[in-house]
Amino acid sequence: MRTQVGILGAGPAGLKLSLLLAQRGVESVVLEARSRQAIEQTIRAGVLEQGTADLMRELGVHRRMEKLGEEHEGIEFRFRGRGRRIPLKELTGKCVTLYAQHEVIKDLVAARLAQGGEILFSVQDVSLEAIDTERPRIRFRRDPDAPFELLECDFIAGCDGFHGPSRATIPESARQEFVKTYPMGWLGILTQAPPSSRELIYCNSDRGFALVSTRSPEIQRMYLQVDADDDIRNWSDDRIWEELRLRLATEDGWEPIEGPILQKSIVQMRSFVCAPMQYGRLYLAGDAAHIVPPTGAKGLNLAVSDARVLAEAIARYYRDGSDHLLQRYSAICLRRVWKAERFSYFMTQMLHRFSEHSPFEREIQLAELDYITSSRHGLATIAENYVGLPIEWDT
Ligand code: FAD
Ligand code: PHB
Repeated sequence: MRTQVGILGAGPAGLKLSLLLAQRGVESVVLEARSRQAIEQTIRAGVLEQGTADLMRELGVHRRMEKLGEEHEGIEFRFRGRGRRIPLKELTGKCVTLYAQHEVIKDLVAARLAQGGEILFSVQDVSLEAIDTERPRIRFRRDPDAPFELLECDFIAGCDGFHGPSRATIPESARQEFVKTYPMGWLGILTQAPPSSRELIYCNSDRGFALVSTRSPEIQRMYLQVDADDDIRNWSDDRIWEELRLRLATEDGWEPIEGPILQKSIVQMRSFVCAPMQYGRLYLAGDAAHIVPPTGAKGLNLAVSDARVLAEAIARYYRDGSDHLLQRYSAICLRRVWKAERFSYFMTQMLHRFSEHSPFEREIQLAELDYITSSRHGLATIAENYVGLPIEWDT
């Protein structure tokens, strides 16, 4: 088999890339290790930056998002039992769209298949070969008993998430990894209940962080800070609601609206960057190259902005024969990635309880929240990062 761009992974990065390339007349084949059903059902992120939602429109895959998603013009920071609103739209002219990642995946897969695009699901034993030559290859099998096949490409896009094989194919001497782990995880639930709040609530309480988010008028998403090594079996539904009530309580008696818990799990918190994001003819995009803690709601959005830069760079190569933008791919992406890493780290530090904090440090944290939410400049810095910073093409 032969194609122009071999794309590993049908997550937001890989699928957006295949659609953007098709729009620019470049062929690609997507190889995905999991089944179509599995990728369309995994519960993950939910906040689309303005630019991510706009890209859905540009690609013509916006119809379900516009029907099922919801634009939010503000968010709330809650601490010391009181809420402070951050008016995103008023401060930046932009908003965010609440629309589940697995719904985005459904839209992108359907659109790519409708174009006649090739996505091979459930492939096995994937490896990358000859990535430092002009004919890199992906070796894989369609199922465990099938013979190995080779997909020969001009370029390989490693969009295979944090645990995929792409990043490790780059020699260790040619990459640097930056890692930060946090002493906490997030316990996330989906509950069948009406929305507790019109806007997201990020809450710093003495008992730890809590987040109220939403998926639809009937299904809500909420999170609680837990210990990094906590086990979901320690968390009965009653204990989860009790903790959400206590952490989110306000002076005027606010309480979340409770319902049956449909799903619960714990996710780890990590910051990670691999630099550079390219080697030979292999280009990493999304979680394959970087991870953020979910506090800034940036993971999915960064995956999409990488895909945007890579599609443009590859398209320019075929159109003008110039690899100038391809050479700068990593530098352009990392400039935005590091700013999102900074914002996610900052939000995590400001909103969680850290057991190592002294009473002094705890008061400093609360004073920071007070300052940020009472200064127009403070509010604006949160707002412009939250709705999404621009891609800076000029490095
Ligand atoms: P992925 O979505 O991880 O896609 C990579 C794809 O590659 C996967 O489908 C995988 O099956 C496939 N793959 C892996 N190995 C191979 C292989 N060998 N061959 C072929 N394919 C392969 N972000 C937020 O902003 N908010 C959240 O609430 C949030 N919650 C999250 C919860 C969880 C459990 C996880 C894991 C992540 C969460 N994130 C969240 C992060 C966000 O979902 C990711 O940043 C986003 O999915 C990144 O997109 P991606 O396309 O780079 O990678
Ligand atoms: C979510 O709805 O899943 C969500 C919202 C905001 C975040 C993280 C996750 O910061």
